[in-house]
Amino acid sequence: MATIGIDGIRKSFGAVQALQAVELLVRDGEFLALLGPSGCGKTTLLRIIAGLETQTAGRVRIGERDVTDLPPRRRGLAMVFQNYAVFPHLTVFENVAFGLRMGKAPKDRVQRQVERAAALLHIEPYLGRYPAQLSGGQRQRVAVARALAVEPEVLLMDEPLSNLDALLRLEMRAELKAVLAEAGTTTIYVTHDQTEAMGLADRIAVMQAGRIEQIGSPAEIYHRPGSRFVGAFVGSPPMNFLRLPVRNGAAALGDLSLPCPPGTAAEVLLGLRAEDLSPAPPGEGFAFTLRVAEPLGSHVLLTGSAANQPMRAVVPYEAEGVGEGFAPGRVLHLRPHPGRLNWMDAESGRALEASR
Ligand SMILES: Nc1ncnc2c1ncn2[C@@H]1O[C@H](COP(=O)(O)OP(=O)(O)OP(=O)(O)O)[C@@H](O)[C@H]1O
Ligand SMILES: [Mg+2]
Repeated sequence: MATIGIDGIRKSFGAVQALQAVELLVRDGEFLALLGPSGCGKTTLLRIIAGLETQTAGRVRIGERDVTDLPPRRRGLAMVFQNYAVFPHLTVFENVAFGLRMGKAPKDRVQRQVERAAALLHIEPYLGRYPAQLSGGQRQRVAVARALAVEPEVLLMDEPLSNLDALLRLEMRAELKAVLAEAGTTTIYVTHDQTEAMGLADRIAVMQAGRIEQIGSPAEIYHRPGSRFVGAFVGSPPMNFLRLPVRNGAAALGDLSLPCPPGTAAEVLLGLRAEDLSPAPPGEGFAFTLRVAEPLGSHVLLTGSAANQPMRAVVPYEAEGVGEGFAPGRVLHLRPHPGRLNWMDAESGRALEASR
C-alpha cells in the first residue's frame, strides 16, 4: 500500500501553462477522483505521476520513495489511458496478462489473475479474440482489466469507463469501487463526470486551468464549495449564485435579511443549491417569479428569478404553499435552508472563510 505525494508540480508546453504548482497528497488506500473540465490538466498530471511526461518543476513521491527521476516501470503503478491503448497483435488474454509477464510472474499466477480481472470486467468470452474483433467499450474493459491484473499498489485511471453505455457504466463503477476498496489500492481516477466522481470517490480534487481549486469529501465539495467555480461545476442543476447588497452586516434577499460573515464587503455572492430552497408563507421568504416548471417525478424543477437574477429551485410536487400549482409568471415565496448558505466574495468568487 502507498501514498502519492505531488509537490509543487508545474508543467509548461511552450507558452501553454498546463499545470501551475499542483500540491496533492493521496492517502494510503484512498480513492481520489480528479474532476475538472476539458483541458484543465488532468491527463497531464496523471502522466507526470506515471513518469510518461516530464514536469517543468516539482517532485512526485510514492510511499516513502521519491520517484521523480525513476522511469515508469520502476514506479510500481499501473495506468489506464484515456485512449485505452491495447496491443492489436496480442489476444485479449495476452493483453490482460501483459504486465504480469513483464514482471516474470509464474504461469499459474498469470492464469489466476487474468481470469479474475476478466471476470470482473465481464470479458471472459473474448479472451481468445484480438482487439480488432471487439467493440470500443469491450476494448476499454480490456485496458482496465490489464491494469487490475497486476494488482498494483497504485492505480491511475483516465476516464476508464467513457466508452461504456449508461447501464454497464453504472455496474462497472460499483464493481471497481468494491474491488479497489477490498484490495486497498491507492487510486487516482480522472473524470469530467461529476456524478461519477461523487459516487466513487473518498475525496474529490476539483481542477480548473492547471490548478486544484478544492479537495474534499463529496459532501464538502457539494455543500461547501470553496469557490463559485466548484459550486457551478458540481451538481445538476448548478448551484445558484445571487449578487446581493449588504447593509449593517446582513444581505437583503427580498423580505429576508440574512446575516453575513463578519467583514463582508458592500456586496456579497450567496450560493444556494436548488434543493435547499423550499416554499414559505408570504413575508417569511423571498419572491421568486416562475418562468418554467419541469416535473421530475416526485419533485419539480422551477426555473425563474429572484432579486432580478436567474434562479432554479427543486421543490416537492405537493409542497405546502405551492397550492395553485406552477403556472408560468406566478410569484412563489421561497426560503433557503439556514444551514446551507454559501457566502462568497463578490469579486474573487472565493468562499468567505467565516461562513464555513
Ligand atoms: N503535448 C502537448 N503539447 C502542447 N500542449 C499540450 C500537450 N498536452 C496537453 N497540452 C495542453 O495542456 C492542457 C491540459 O491538457 P490535458 O490533456 O492534461 O487536459 P485534460 O484535463 O486531460 O482534458 P480532457 O478532459 O479533455 O482530457 C491543454 O490546454 C492542452 O491543450
Ligand atoms: Mg484528459
